[in-house]
Amino acid sequence: MIIIVSPAEKLKGELTVPGDKSVTHRAVILGALGAGVTEVRGYLDAEDCRSTIECMRAMGARITFRGKVLLIQGRAMKLKEPVLPLDCGNSGTTARLLMGVLAGQPFKAELTGDASLSRRPMKRVTAPLKKMGAYFPGDKETLPLEVQGGELEAISYKSLQASAQVKSAILLAGLYADGETIVEEPYLSRNHTELMLEQFGAKVKAEGPRVSVQGGNMLKGRQVRVPGDISAAAFFMVAAAVVPGSDVVLKNVGVNPTRSGIIELLQEMGAELKLVNRRYWGREPVADISVRGGDTLRGIEIGAAIIPRVIDEIPVLAVAAAVAQGETRISGAGELRVKESDRLTAISEQLDRMGAMIKETDDGLVIGGGGGLKGAMLDSCGDHRIAMALAVAGLVAEGETAVKNAGVIKISYPAFMQSLRSLVE
Ligand code: S3P
Repeated sequence: MIIIVSPAEKLKGELTVPGDKSVTHRAVILGALGAGVTEVRGYLDAEDCRSTIECMRAMGARITFRGKVLLIQGRAMKLKEPVLPLDCGNSGTTARLLMGVLAGQPFKAELTGDASLSRRPMKRVTAPLKKMGAYFPGDKETLPLEVQGGELEAISYKSLQASAQVKSAILLAGLYADGETIVEEPYLSRNHTELMLEQFGAKVKAEGPRVSVQGGNMLKGRQVRVPGDISAAAFFMVAAAVVPGSDVVLKNVGVNPTRSGIIELLQEMGAELKLVNRRYWGREPVADISVRGGDTLRGIEIGAAIIPRVIDEIPVLAVAAAVAQGETRISGAGELRVKESDRLTAISEQLDRMGAMIKETDDGLVIGGGGGLKGAMLDSCGDHRIAMALAVAGLVAEGETAVKNAGVIKISYPAFMQSLRSLVE
């Protein structure tokens, strides 16, 4: 699929973005593990979350779509041995969180994924799970790989990466371990797992980048209301901020502080973003975000400490930086090289084709800014977030922009182009 984007005069109107991908994955997994029924409202219906749903179905959870509600009949912590390999598709969250769950099940299961997922590093998860007592036949570091679960011991683990996927895998395994499992990361990554585990009745303690869970407790099915995905909203925040005269309100966006780096960074660049109508949905903070375009943005320094809170928004932030005045330097972002694509290379090569002054470094980007973008023939590099970031770049480019292989958008936001068109005047 090719998408074509023309320069926008301005963006106007209200938009409700789809449900949060990370929260949806966790609601499906915890719902499938818990005792009784879990009802999920506002869930994300996109390919990644479908992968998680299908895997949990294959392990005996009854999951049905009833109108706008996802109904999950949980398995009271004991999953069924799957007959076939569990296909995680493109979804790193599915693969890594399921490894944690499988570590606690008394059977062997195989995890597979698409070409992109099969290149992504898994040792960061298998290493701590092995310490807990899980067995990985063949010691493979990439998918496809098998997990043989069993009796687990609690561990205290210092993670090398600030990674919610690693942390969550350990905490999920910790539910099955004897004693208190502790994970400490260099910086606090998104904390949806710990918040939802508590909501489902687990005993969790969190203190800064250190979190622990007590093993041996039964999760109980709950009602979950999923906030709008800030990582989806980010595309429209940047679009409205860079197109002069824009005035957009993004409704019901999850603004959990472990995810909201994009708001702070755009404000620091000089964008006019305001949070209104702040409230909580369960334990997750939610707000409406109003964005006005007009003022020229300025380049900023973005360092390692904020990266985990803006990890998925760097490609679209690079678009904002490319049209800002002055240089933007992003460092401490080496993790972007092991996402759905090498996002540092992907975004710099594609924005370079549009005439941006952008260079990659080992662990970041240096973006010149101010030069103006030109429409070009671009490629998604097989990565949903690169495809959407480039569509946003097309709104401020001179002439038409085409993005090839854009079908991957359905991984996280199947209706993205409709949403964009609904705002463009
Ligand atoms: C996610 C965590 C992040 C993020 C990914 C979703 C999650 O990955 O990039 O899109 O749902 O836990 P890492 O935890 O590996 O950084």
